[in-house]
Amino acid sequence: MRIGIYGGSFNPPHKGHTSSAATAAKCIGLDRLIVIPSGMPPHKTFPKGTPSPEGRLEMTRLAFRDVENCEISDIELRRAGESYTIDTLREISDINPGAELFLIVGTDMFLTLREWKDADEILRLATPVVTLRRADIKAEITDEIARQTELGATPGLIENDIVEISSSQLRSGFPERNFTWHIDERVYSYIIERGLYGAKPNFDWLRFEAYKRLSPERRIHVAGCEAEAVRLADRWDEDADEAREAAILHDITKKLTAEEQLALCAQYGISITDEMREIPKILHGHTAAEIASASFAASDAVKSAIKWHTTAHDGMTTLDKIIYIADTIEPNRDFDGVNELRRLAYSNLDAAVLACIDTVIKELLTDGRRIDTNTLAAARSINPDYNPADYKPN
Ligand SMILES: [Fe+2]
Ligand SMILES: [Fe+2]
Repeated sequence: MRIGIYGGSFNPPHKGHTSSAATAAKCIGLDRLIVIPSGMPPHKTFPKGTPSPEGRLEMTRLAFRDVENCEISDIELRRAGESYTIDTLREISDINPGAELFLIVGTDMFLTLREWKDADEILRLATPVVTLRRADIKAEITDEIARQTELGATPGLIENDIVEISSSQLRSGFPERNFTWHIDERVYSYIIERGLYGAKPNFDWLRFEAYKRLSPERRIHVAGCEAEAVRLADRWDEDADEAREAAILHDITKKLTAEEQLALCAQYGISITDEMREIPKILHGHTAAEIASASFAASDAVKSAIKWHTTAHDGMTTLDKIIYIADTIEPNRDFDGVNELRRLAYSNLDAAVLACIDTVIKELLTDGRRIDTNTLAAARSINPDYNPADYKPN
């Protein structure tokens, strides 16, 4: 039995880690690969914003899920106090008598290996295998291999496809909405969902995720809505990034049936009014808002804009108004009066909201359908005397 052991902080894990481990496993001909997120490293603390041990364990599971014969172990996370490789090796060796152990390490670790606690015993219990990612330090590695060989070890060297990314580079990019395909998508989703490392969603990734849930026609509308929302945000000094996020996500549940919407309402504890039951179209704003918050780290402001984009409501924020209007006037919309509304949206935001609401209300009245109380309240919060019968846009 040939067992490979691959440890690391995995804070977060990325494709450099998985490709190193998978390449090493193949080259060594491993029967099993044990991936071990490290406990508290000796003489070190984890950087600020590091998720809980369970978080690193789960991200590691997600990152390595497609690597063959691979298992993730919490052996070091369960251990109290500082965590030493020798303790891990002893434990694995004890429960796998007769197994041949290989310690897979990156170059930095390999070069300091002889300084680790009980290094002699480490070299006796396991064969070090270094995965080389930076060709420029090959000479240093070769020297170190020679030194370890003198100590009786037979270290292996594996040259891997170069993935020049580090966990710390990733961490510092997350708040700037950076995303790279060097991180597994599911790991990235996990980070965004929980807001780890202060991460904010990357817009290309967000579009990719949102568009998966939309019909092709709806994607065109949402793209138009995004462009319009950003323009309006610039015009009205609102946060363009938040406007973009809200626009990208505002219709993510639009495709769902009324039953599916109601199931989501139950899941997220959305209380359903008689009006929502009677006009199921209203539901998609509410359900999309909850998903935006739960899965895409939407702020309360973004959540509110998504929630109210269908009906509007009393006391709308500027962002609420922007999304409400962008949804109506985005460049793909074509109806009588749309150009007048577009002009108004850039000269008087409240007047534009009122005009949009009036258009909707008149349509509902013509069709003999019910007017949502929030819609009427929104109109009257702008003009207390608003009455659809005598309203005239100015
Ligand atoms: Fe919508
Ligand atoms: Fe929409």
